[in-house]
Amino acid sequence: MTQKVRKAVLPVAGLGTRFLPATKATPKEMLTVVDKPIIQYVVEEALEAGIEEFVFVTGRGKSAIENHFDKPYELIDMLEKKGKLKELASVTDILPKDTKLFYTRQGAPLGLGHAIYQAKSVIGDEPFAVLLPDDIIYDDSENALSKMIEIHDRTNSNVVLTMDVPKERTQNYGVLDIQNEKVDNGCVKAHGFVEKPAPENAPSTLAVTGRYVFNASIFDEIEKTTPGYGGEIQLTDAMDSLLEKEDFYGYILKGERFDCGDKFGFQQANLYFALKDEFIGPKLKNYIEKISAEKIFTDLKSA
Ligand code: UTP
Repeated sequence: MTQKVRKAVLPVAGLGTRFLPATKATPKEMLTVVDKPIIQYVVEEALEAGIEEFVFVTGRGKSAIENHFDKPYELIDMLEKKGKLKELASVTDILPKDTKLFYTRQGAPLGLGHAIYQAKSVIGDEPFAVLLPDDIIYDDSENALSKMIEIHDRTNSNVVLTMDVPKERTQNYGVLDIQNEKVDNGCVKAHGFVEKPAPENAPSTLAVTGRYVFNASIFDEIEKTTPGYGGEIQLTDAMDSLLEKEDFYGYILKGERFDCGDKFGFQQANLYFALKDEFIGPKLKNYIEKISAEKIFTDLKSA
């Protein structure tokens, strides 16, 4: 019998240098997409997939994340007295009552593998999910993490979320080597991971994105991993050595993925969710149409 995936690790100890100066005093994960911090989208996605316990791997200057998920007693009291019920719900209903949150520190940002390892004692011997809060993953019709957990339940194997990227962009991602495996119901067996391959060397166009379901055995592999790319303990290296012992599957994302650690991806996310918002969506659409017709924007060359 496979163990149920009910815990998730969210590594939030990175420095967010691509977003300076915004991230000088504010954690990148707390930047706002429309009216919620990025991290809240990611936690909501995990809750929807059945996650009950969260382990945040934090670092210096990240206390705003803890505060965001804490109970703001003074604010609650004030909103109750003023009868501001909608606002009250927006600060009190973030998490179901029985959700457990744990915070552990990564002393120095020594890499994603090192960050995940800090959660080892809280995770214990259970399978668990990892969600990189840089990525907002969204699909109206299915929750990709739920699908990944279903694959784990069925196979007892490790699962990564992948997305099909244009061939010329493979050097920005970890890429799956699927050899001659066929995609079945959005799921494909992985035979290897290649970090940032040039297009001519890329074994596929399936890029690893920020969602994973691991067996606890990944911790043994991280423990043995020596510093790799950028002098950091890389999660991909640990995954590659685990692949020699256990199966890995890729689940192909059908919906949207916004890389909110990047300025362009962050703006895309804001536009997408703002346009979906019933109050500001219509106004924003009109505004976009208006400014798109203005000379300064029609002169812009496409990327
Ligand atoms: P990134 O490399 O995208 O995040 O790591 P970063 O280092 O904060 O960003 P830049 O490149 O400087 O702008 C992906 C995720 O892994 C976490 C980050 O917080 C981010 O959520 N991470 C990365 C850690 O928790 N610890 C690390 O040592 C590295």
